[in-house]
Amino acid sequence: MTSILILNGPNLNLLGTRQPAVYGSTTLADVEAMCRTHADTLGFALGFEQSNHEGVLIDLIHAAKGTHAGIILNAGAYTHTSMALMDAISSVELPVVEVHLSNIHAREAFRHKSYIAPVALGQICGFGAQGYVMALDALKGHFAK
Ligand code: DQA
Repeated sequence: MTSILILNGPNLNLLGTRQPAVYGSTTLADVEAMCRTHADTLGFALGFEQSNHEGVLIDLIHAAKGTHAGIILNAGAYTHTSMALMDAISSVELPVVEVHLSNIHAREAFRHKSYIAPVALGQICGFGAQGYVMALDALKGHFAK
């Protein structure tokens, strides 16, 4: 069965209580449950991980090669800073869908820059937790090409 890794970066463990006006009241456990339900309908197996540490995220991207067919990545603030994550994605050559709960382009200028976008299949942002479900559909369509 095709397996997808959903990878969440720093502070996303606090979803539900962290700035709910920006990120909503859905918890990361809720996001995982939504994704697992939708992955079942698409015939995907899922890995679901979160880390606050850049190096751990890089290790998880490396380990995805050979285990997962694609990655859905919300890198949190590392999106805007991490050339190392960008290089990790380039190194494994797996399709990556970049996801953000908030519309990063409608927020502070420093959030407009993404180091993930140039090495991603595409970016989904501004749709809250639904964006992760949309990303699963995007990978399904990508694999059907
Ligand atoms: C985020 C947007 C980032 O700018 C921010 O640092 C996050 C969450 C989002 O999902 O909207 O931690 O990736």
